[in-house]
Amino acid sequence: MTDLYAVFGNPVAHSKSPLIHSAFAQATAQDLIYEARLAAVDGFKQAISDFQAAGGKGANVTVPFKEEAYRLCTRLSERAARAGAVNTLAFNGAEIFGDNTDGAGLVRDITVNLRRSLAGQRILLLGAGGAARGVIAPLLAAQPASLLIANRSADKAAALAKSFLDIAATTETTVGPRVNAGNFAETAGKSFDIVINATSASLSGESLPLPSGIFAAASLAYDMMYGRGDTPFMVLARQQGAAHCADGLGMLVEQAAEAFFIWRGVRPETTAVLAELRTALSA
Ligand code: ATR
Repeated sequence: MTDLYAVFGNPVAHSKSPLIHSAFAQATAQDLIYEARLAAVDGFKQAISDFQAAGGKGANVTVPFKEEAYRLCTRLSERAARAGAVNTLAFNGAEIFGDNTDGAGLVRDITVNLRRSLAGQRILLLGAGGAARGVIAPLLAAQPASLLIANRSADKAAALAKSFLDIAATTETTVGPRVNAGNFAETAGKSFDIVINATSASLSGESLPLPSGIFAAASLAYDMMYGRGDTPFMVLARQQGAAHCADGLGMLVEQAAEAFFIWRGVRPETTAVLAELRTALSA
């Protein structure tokens, strides 16, 4: 019997997940079908329940349903509980297991594909929404020297940093990386080895008001967004002296590989799929 998987989103037609997972299935000889399913904005729960009833084994969840998926689960991985959002569901009888593979995907893209260690690095994370929240715990687990969360509204960054204090260094303890928060202006006069854009500013083509001088020599600027050519953040980072720039296409493929592993117990090779997507994107 061919197993059935799908990605649920709204919109979802643009999703590259069916292509990625079909390529993984072929490369690992797994008998499965993976489809894109559009769910009505107020119809996510019903869509998942219909999919389970039809024999669906697991699903990915994308915008705008990741928080709703989190609430729907009967069991959560620790990283999904931390993220407050779920991008991977696995169905087992009445159980709905939820995981979040976004942070693992980011860390793997940076450390394996881009060959950059996160350990001991000064990291600046831009943004304090769902995308930022999803990657903080895996970033801290990689033992950077420090993590500064900078956001347009500083209050949101401070609240987010506070929710990770139990795994960060504080004034009382030196265990774990130091986590700080502020607005963009507070990055002035500091420099960072890795700057990650987790804001949605690129979506609207807007550029971030970053002070100059924040990119250390040999720094990496990483945009979790991707598109044809450089994103506005990558253009800005290059202008301000970032030595290396990357978009989020590798993160997309790596989060998918992690989901595939959860469902099938097999870790697919990602290099060929990433190269194929890159070629298609720049064509
Ligand atoms: P996501 O799930 O993609 O993180 P979100 O939760 O709506 O979406 O968060 C969007 C993030 O992008 C926020 O950090 C937001 O900043 P605010 O919290 O100050 O709203 C940030 N953002 C969006 N557009 C931006 C812009 N033009 N300039 C700076 N930050 C922006």
